[in-house]
Amino acid sequence: MKARILVTSAAGNTGIPTTLGLLEKGYKVRAFVRQRDARSLRLEEAGAELFVGDMFSYRDMRNALKEVQRAYVCPPPGPNTAHFASVFVTAARESQLEHVVTLSQWLSAHDHLASTTREAWLLDKMIAALPNTTHTINEVGFFAENYFGGLAAAAQLGMLAMPLGSPELKGNAPPSNEDIAAVSVACLADPKTHAGHRYRPTGPTLLSNNEIAGIIGKALGRTVTYTDAPEWMFLKAMKADGINPTMMTQFRLYMHEYQRGTFAVNAPNDVVRTVTGQEPESFETIAKRVVHNNPEAVRSARNWITTVTGMLRILLTSTPSVPAIEQAGDHVLITDGVYANGSEDWASLHSPT
Ligand SMILES: NC(=O)c1ccc[n+]([C@@H]2O[C@H](COP(=O)([O-])OP(=O)(O)OC[C@H]3O[C@@H](n4cnc5c(N)ncnc54)[C@H](OP(=O)(O)O)[C@@H]3O)[C@@H](O)[C@H]2O)c1
Repeated sequence: MKARILVTSAAGNTGIPTTLGLLEKGYKVRAFVRQRDARSLRLEEAGAELFVGDMFSYRDMRNALKEVQRAYVCPPPGPNTAHFASVFVTAARESQLEHVVTLSQWLSAHDHLASTTREAWLLDKMIAALPNTTHTINEVGFFAENYFGGLAAAAQLGMLAMPLGSPELKGNAPPSNEDIAAVSVACLADPKTHAGHRYRPTGPTLLSNNEIAGIIGKALGRTVTYTDAPEWMFLKAMKADGINPTMMTQFRLYMHEYQRGTFAVNAPNDVVRTVTGQEPESFETIAKRVVHNNPEAVRSARNWITTVTGMLRILLTSTPSVPAIEQAGDHVLITDGVYANGSEDWASLHSPT
């Protein structure tokens, strides 16, 4: 009989294609969602059993894992991954899971400057310590999805303003949500082959910031120009967007990693092809799909006014102070923290072989 698999964060970027991919392969899938909405109903219609609950609640996680043999563990983005890890691992130990696939981070390291990255590392170590459970780590870098946060500005104003370094910097071979999910699905379907492995799926091509803007422009049918946005502007934009203050400080560190070329280390690679048997999707394909599915991409007077109003709101927002956020939130700061590509341990795990 086929295993029952729990997909956490099931209504999210990678949770949706992971759930759909497992259902297509004939698995029974329990989809852990926060609420019933259009996203979760789509999963239910495709055949998933919905579990509505709070992933930080031990009671909910234990119930979600009843009669489940395998799980896709995708921590909700936010400052409490270690808490999530403790809840999941405690419940998973009771359920005697056979196999777990975690969505971890390319940057994952015990000594990283970002506490969310150290917590992702801790989650993987805690799962590795489960006595009767095997696991695979899907260590993804900078999602292709991230570039589309600025889709409205690209569509209406022809600009892609992100703090990713110089226009010529080839900083990423962006993977699609679908390919990230396809790697997880393959690992959940065949634990024997994939147990004990860590995979870092990438897209097929290492792209410069100019090339990324050009491809988004082509999908939109207009010229889009990349601008290396200053950090203060990025912080203002995140604040205006209502991003959790702790996450603002973490995303800032991830942008530093991008500028340092960390996501380009040994990228692109052949993980997607090797693990799934399919070619990874190009950024052109991803951009066309996002533009096709997104009403923000339509050029109209109404969308233009909304975008310009949003830009004005960003300019009028006060610049958040990173030290003040760290102090107010009592952040766990380590004295010997480093960027990933300044860490010997990290570099040794990112060798091309
Ligand atoms: N973006 C990147 O470049 C990148 C790179 C490497 C690793 N990652 C990791 O990827 C993970 C995020 O993956 P993703 O993008 O697939 O997820 P996502 O799209 O952010 O989805 C997260 C889902 O979890 C739900 N959720 C949040 N808190 C919950 C709670 N307490 N109880 C129940 N559900 C809850 C959210 O519900 P609502 O939608 O209703 O809020 C959402 O559907 C993070 O751990 C991040 O560190 C991201």
